[in-house]
Amino acid sequence: MAGHRSYLCIKQQKIKMKKRYEEVAERLAGQIEQGVYLPGERIPGVRRLSKQFAVSISTIMQAHQLLEDQRLIEARPRSGYYVRTRLWQPPEQPTMTHPKPTPTAITGHQLAMQLSQATQQPGIMQLGAAIPDHSFLPTRAINQALMRVARHQQQRSASYEFPPGSIELRQQIARRMLDAGCQIAPSEVVITSGCQEALTLCLRVVAQPGDIIALESPTFYGQLQVVESLGLKALEIPTHPQEGISVDALKLAIEQWPVKACILVGNFNNPMGYCMPQNNKQALVKLLGKHNVPLIEDDVYGDLAFDHNRPLAAKSYDRNSNVLYCSSFSKTLSPGLRVGWIVPGKYQEQIAYQKYITSLATPTLAQLAIADFLQRGAYDRYLRQVRNQYARQVTLITQAISKYFPEGTKVTRPKGGFVVWVELPEKSDSLQIFHQALAKNICIAPGPIFSASGKYRNFIRISCAQPWDDRFEAAIIYLGKLALQ
Ligand SMILES: Cc1ncc(COP(=O)(O)O)c(C=O)c1O
Repeated sequence: MAGHRSYLCIKQQKIKMKKRYEEVAERLAGQIEQGVYLPGERIPGVRRLSKQFAVSISTIMQAHQLLEDQRLIEARPRSGYYVRTRLWQPPEQPTMTHPKPTPTAITGHQLAMQLSQATQQPGIMQLGAAIPDHSFLPTRAINQALMRVARHQQQRSASYEFPPGSIELRQQIARRMLDAGCQIAPSEVVITSGCQEALTLCLRVVAQPGDIIALESPTFYGQLQVVESLGLKALEIPTHPQEGISVDALKLAIEQWPVKACILVGNFNNPMGYCMPQNNKQALVKLLGKHNVPLIEDDVYGDLAFDHNRPLAAKSYDRNSNVLYCSSFSKTLSPGLRVGWIVPGKYQEQIAYQKYITSLATPTLAQLAIADFLQRGAYDRYLRQVRNQYARQVTLITQAISKYFPEGTKVTRPKGGFVVWVELPEKSDSLQIFHQALAKNICIAPGPIFSASGKYRNFIRISCAQPWDDRFEAAIIYLGKLALQ
């Protein structure tokens, strides 16, 4: 509503003699109203607009100022102007979760396997697994890097790159980790085959079968699968859709149970999308440090902030080497290359050994190609573009959900990454929806796979990393119908 009022204000200015910048502002406001630029989306930069409207840069700057005063657009530091999201009223968000307060032995996570297999099905609308469509990935540049490495480092590419892994890649990772607030040396990094392997190695090092692991609720199902496969028990901790794991509830859990480790995704969580506030991260690291409970931090979405501000990792508050930081390039550069890493803190030697006995090494060509890509400085440019794309996708899909899903549907508001967590009316059965949708070639992730105790029966997770088009919209319409039944 605020947006409409602002637009009318601009229109009323027509009555008096308009200045050039006011005309430009009016035309831009019209474009926003018609949906050329969507809420949350970046409008073109000053130079581009000055060319488009054939006016000076200072005229564009005045037009920006006017639109900002009218609360139609907002400036974001070092990034440009964005259409204000407040123009559109998003659906309500789910509330704090209340999982089962006792440790659970997990069984039956084969459904997650079914979900992964569905991604390979020809013609599938892939909204289930959190895998970016190739159109969002810099595949061409990565392939060029692979070819360069294969040509210039023939012998090395064909040899093992034993743990801790390629020094060039570890150097690049150490540099990038400064953005997450972590000052580490390349020697503190161990390269893994993706983040999933990183999580497995960490849990294997810090826990024994039968031990209790505290985790967020809902939880990324890959973590639950590892917990299950290692014979560990999961203790689901209440989690807030904007603030993440409840540090108070975790404290109570640690006091009540012999918790062996805590594992979580604090930045742009999967599935809820939140970014834990910095002081919560700090309190979490302090609490776990005090009780000598290692934290396994999964930061695989950390580079995908919609506002372009890379959040700090919980690891940045770690003074006792108690945090095992895990990540990978699967959500940004290439899931298929299988390159991830761990900064294991005091568990460095055990992690390197576990990596060695598990798979000897991560493919050398993949490691060197990612290092080559990073050395060329192309990563930040790519991130700027893809973060805007994901922000747009999430807005479009949330809008479609609010249009086509039953009344009372709630949706999270991620600040980064590319998944949304949708709470359907209570009687909806997401497992039934999953099977019915799959029969129509639409794959979603049903809520219970995100819980050790089968909770979240009326929730689904939708991956927004597929290009928005008519087919995507038709899938959302169909899912909305299924949710109504
Ligand atoms: C939170 C989280 N961690 C880890 C992974 C696995 O990452 P990788 O493909 O690098 O093994 C995923 C993939 O969906 C994820 O969402």
